[in-house]
Amino acid sequence: MSLAFDYRGPTPRSDTEIFRADVLSGLSARRKTLPAKYFYDSAGSLLFDRITELDEYYPTRTETALLTDIAGEIAHLAGPDAVVVEFGAGSLAKIRILLDALRTPRAYMPIDVSGAHLMAAAAELRGHYPELHVTPIIADFTEPLTIPFAGNANVFGFFPGSTIGNFDPPEARRFLRRASATLPKGALFLVGADTKKDRAILERAYNDSEGVTAAFNLNLLARINRELGGDFDLSRFRHRAFYNHDLGRIEMHLESTGAQTVHVAGRSVRFAEGETIHTENSYKYSAPQFATLAASSGWTARRLWTADRNLFALHLLENA
Ligand code: AVJ
Repeated sequence: MSLAFDYRGPTPRSDTEIFRADVLSGLSARRKTLPAKYFYDSAGSLLFDRITELDEYYPTRTETALLTDIAGEIAHLAGPDAVVVEFGAGSLAKIRILLDALRTPRAYMPIDVSGAHLMAAAAELRGHYPELHVTPIIADFTEPLTIPFAGNANVFGFFPGSTIGNFDPPEARRFLRRASATLPKGALFLVGADTKKDRAILERAYNDSEGVTAAFNLNLLARINRELGGDFDLSRFRHRAFYNHDLGRIEMHLESTGAQTVHVAGRSVRFAEGETIHTENSYKYSAPQFATLAASSGWTARRLWTADRNLFALHLLENA
């Protein structure tokens, strides 16, 4: 049995206090969890970049290749003078494929919580596109957000990377509804989502032979040690990732290899042998499932492009 406790500290203020509150609340639950968004400190972001280059991890390179193939069609559908709004300031490579294809894009508005990452991405893009108005928005795009668009703006939303897969279905619907409220009526929205496929391909992508995904997962414990004064022994947890067919998602966990007690921010957390911390879900969508999700969240599915062997999908939605 794990020792359960409620976290009733002071109202969190700084990022570290919010991190501490989220960690303590996740580790005190009956089924231990940690939010996947905490993977991406600087060490974790470097590990994620390495993941995207692995042979086994197909999503990034497949989406990039698909986007390159269809960029001309997208540019035609989007029309001239588009204002491009990206949810997350993820990959400069992907946004550049889009910007290079669009006819006279007007503005690029990346929305990201990480101000530093956002400003670096914005500066880099300004160098390459001197005509483009680059307007970064520091915000959490899972929260309600109002952007004051000009009345006639031709707005094109972009949410690549299958980040939508990290949301459970109710969260994905809430996100899509908020995006529908943020973007004007008639706006197009291009969303990258990983597809349902052979279990072996999915599981290989999250259990790479070099152990980079394991290091990425375990870095969450290292981050807790660094930032919250934890004493996790990383050699006593192992990376586990598997496809949960019933729920249509890859689950990542960190499994305790023995009974142990860990200390975090002055609290004790008990682990039984084999007990896990659930660290990430990555939902996979069939085309009809995604269209249904979109339709229940204020969007009409306009077009779908899939990569070779249905490895990855780009869904073009229209704000209804
Ligand atoms: C960035 C959320 C798309 O779910 O595939 C990669 C994160 N986790 N390997 C994914 C991730 C483990 C990734 N996303």
